[in-house]
Amino acid sequence: MTVTIVGSQLGDEGKGGVVDLFGDAADVVARYQGGDNAGHTVVEGGTEYKLSLVPSGAVRDKVGVLGNGCVVNPATLFEEIDDLRDRGLAPDVRVAERAHVILPYHRVLDGIEEEAKSDSDMKVGTTGRGIGPTYEDKVGRRGLRIADLLDPEGLREKLEYVVAQKRALAEDVFGVDVDGPDADEEIGSAFDVDAIHEEYSEYGRRLREEDMTVNAGAFLADRIERGEEVMFEGAQGTSIDIDHGNYPYVTSSNPTAGYAATGTGVGPTTVGRGEVVGIVKAYLSRVGSGPLPTELKGDDESEELAEYIREEGGEYGTVTGRPRRVGWLDIPMLRHAARANGFTGLAINHIDVLAGLDEVKVGHSYDLDGEEVFTLPATTEQWADCEPNLRRFDGWSDVDWAAVAEEGYDAVPENARAYLEYVSDELDTDIYAVGVGPGREETVVLEDPFE
Ligand code: GDP
Ligand code: IMO
Ligand code: MG
Repeated sequence: MTVTIVGSQLGDEGKGGVVDLFGDAADVVARYQGGDNAGHTVVEGGTEYKLSLVPSGAVRDKVGVLGNGCVVNPATLFEEIDDLRDRGLAPDVRVAERAHVILPYHRVLDGIEEEAKSDSDMKVGTTGRGIGPTYEDKVGRRGLRIADLLDPEGLREKLEYVVAQKRALAEDVFGVDVDGPDADEEIGSAFDVDAIHEEYSEYGRRLREEDMTVNAGAFLADRIERGEEVMFEGAQGTSIDIDHGNYPYVTSSNPTAGYAATGTGVGPTTVGRGEVVGIVKAYLSRVGSGPLPTELKGDDESEELAEYIREEGGEYGTVTGRPRRVGWLDIPMLRHAARANGFTGLAINHIDVLAGLDEVKVGHSYDLDGEEVFTLPATTEQWADCEPNLRRFDGWSDVDWAAVAEEGYDAVPENARAYLEYVSDELDTDIYAVGVGPGREETVVLEDPFE
């Protein structure tokens, strides 16, 4: 069977930890979208791993697959694999021949476009990893795929076509000096066919040498046929999905569960017969721009509370180190996610971070133009106009969370249970796990989706 792990909010909900937790029963862990914009954390026995491309199952020695829906920067991939090997792991990662490749000019253009938008509301606050420009080229049918790296001659031909366009875009549209006397050397080499060709055919050589490329759909179908368990590891989150998120403050792929099929080549019926677990952070965090109706800001008390949660929860971007914006849990956002993904279960993390507060609030619904609404409106402009109707819950105190995890759900403080059960009721979905700390053991497990 399959278990799909999906972020239900704005990314960084603790997906890596849940993949690690339930992944013990899996044979293969596959990513289906995104690239090295992701930063997934696994904490095993006090050792922390931050993974951006290698699927989180690597910590438990599971086979990892980067599906066709991913965009892969081979430089990051190999760096991460080498680093994990140095740390004593043996990551076995297979990359879909159909996955698209992030090239140096994608990263440069990501930065150039963000810079061009910097004085306006249009700036997204991307991770700068070239994600958007790479997906643009995929859809524009001028992208390079992993299989292209295995064919140096074909690679050169494709690069000659596309790099000329990218250079013109940088120079003529954005007015960037690509290789004049004052040009930045890194920018120059990002538009140099020979330099790219040399570097990327070398990645192709290594991919071949380590026998890393696969036809992802066929590879996974074969495993499933043999009775193996497959976990799909979503990156990012539903509210930054290109279709279901708050466009344009989104990533350029579909983190929602439907893409687990499209982004790997496994049929939607296979994904649908399995479980889809929504990962929820007990409050909101957001890196990057865009509205956030329940954001804690605007007055001293809110800012102090945000600062407290940010420090307690270590809310600084895994990839970029940026401080994350913080808000109360947004229930309309979660209702939207439960519908768009078809959650069969929930993992609610970070309830330890809220411990010690006198009261904890949630946005239960919104007030939009005098009407009470219960799910996300379709436009970001409307979402920005939403005023949250807050509900308050009595706080819970800080306890020995490791002991709670060991004892089980009944040991969770009563007020925290009331909060959790409210969320479960609103989404009409059972809770499978409650995160009470970053470590693998700091989780209260109620149900294992593989059992
Ligand atoms: P992901 O992108 O969804 O995998 O999440 P990140 O790894 O970017 O961010 C989650 C952070 O919270 C990581 O540092 C995790 O180790 C940590 N974390 C996960 N679950 C919990 C939890 O229940 N409590 C606390 N305090 N930290 C958690
Ligand atoms: P994980 O998998 C949180 C955000 C960026 C930006 C927007 C677009 O760790 O949950 P991009 O570089 O993708 O074009 O940026 O999406 N973003 C994330 N936020 N967690 C992530 O991944 C994210 N990946 C992208 O901050 O607002
Ligand atoms: Mg993350």
